[in-house]
Amino acid sequence: MQVVKIGLLGLGTVGSGVIQILEQNANDIQNRSQSQIKVSKVLVRNLNAPRAIAGDFTLTDQADDVLADPDISVVVEVMGGIEPARTYILEAFKHGKNVVTANKDLLALHGHELLDAAKEAGKDLYFEGSVAGGIPIIAALKQSLTGNKISEVLGIINGTTNYILTAMTEQGRDYHEVLKEAQQLGYAEADPTADVDGLDAARKLAILASIAFNSRVTVNDVYVEGISKITAEDISYARELNSTVKLLAVAKFQTDGIEVRVHPAFVPNNHPLAAVSGVFNAIYVVGDAVGETMFYGRGAGSLPTGSAVVSDIIQVARNIKSNSTANINCTCYNELAIKSEQD
Ligand code: NDP
Ligand code: HSE
Repeated sequence: MQVVKIGLLGLGTVGSGVIQILEQNANDIQNRSQSQIKVSKVLVRNLNAPRAIAGDFTLTDQADDVLADPDISVVVEVMGGIEPARTYILEAFKHGKNVVTANKDLLALHGHELLDAAKEAGKDLYFEGSVAGGIPIIAALKQSLTGNKISEVLGIINGTTNYILTAMTEQGRDYHEVLKEAQQLGYAEADPTADVDGLDAARKLAILASIAFNSRVTVNDVYVEGISKITAEDISYARELNSTVKLLAVAKFQTDGIEVRVHPAFVPNNHPLAAVSGVFNAIYVVGDAVGETMFYGRGAGSLPTGSAVVSDIIQVARNIKSNSTANINCTCYNELAIKSEQD
């Protein structure tokens, strides 16, 4: 049986979920990947911090212990932030490792650099966990819908803001109180202003639009407006108009370019996105062949995001077994004008 050793960068909310899933579903994962997948080393910042999760792995605070370990074939980056995550991933490719990451901050700015590095190294870069937690939207756009010309991607892709807006709408609760709760539940980013100001959704939208339209969209291209100015009055106006306030991420393909924007919107209650509540996310995708589709699930949290990361790990293990890589995308990106102004 093939043994695939994993080096985990980060053991927080997502890293702990990854370890838990690999343990609790070990037999199925072994059957499905035809591999024994073992986390052998884990990089953390603080070796002395109390850990809720234990296992048969070595904890280290030295990145090279993981990146230069010849026995490790997959580096799983779940530490977050731009640096040192970017340098570690590039370093991992130089050492001949495959990489799985959930880091949307990094992908939304440097995703194309990382994909180019993966391609040059002949290694995999998978990132299902970076958008909408457990929802398999990246695999859907890259594989299942790849025969379509996608015209529209419309989503609720930030769990924290949807959790806050739902509590304000359904229970009349206070914005700041619910934000604190979302932080305690592990939904919010380390800096929750990225959630409430719409930046986290903009990062995810840049990733989705790049894949859906085979283009190079970065977070800087996206028009962003968050929910911090939403008041109880806005929510009650929406109710009068038979609508619900949602933080919407919108990417549209038009003949003269791509439109990418994130902002609060009144969503009519008869639209399927209006019913998406709490930490749940949904992405509504329109393709010329398939028509309308919607993907729904938990958009944040330890196990939902861990589910996406583990599925990427299994896919890499399968690729190692079949001696192939996923990086068969063409490099001929569409050169499209990007329109980020709100209509
Ligand atoms: P956490 O803050 O919970 O965990 C981060 C982990 O990385 C910690 O174990 C920390 O070490 C370690 N770490 C951070 N910086 C360094 C560093 N410079 N050197 C060594 N170790 C470091 O983050 P999350 O698990 O919530 O998020 C991880 C990634 O997943 C992020 O990119 C995030 O955007 C993404 N993500 C998160 C989701 C969620 O629901 N939380 C959902 C989807 C994606 P220590 O424990 O010692 O502090
Ligand atoms: N902070 C993010 C959210 C985590 O609330 O959606 C999942 O990407």
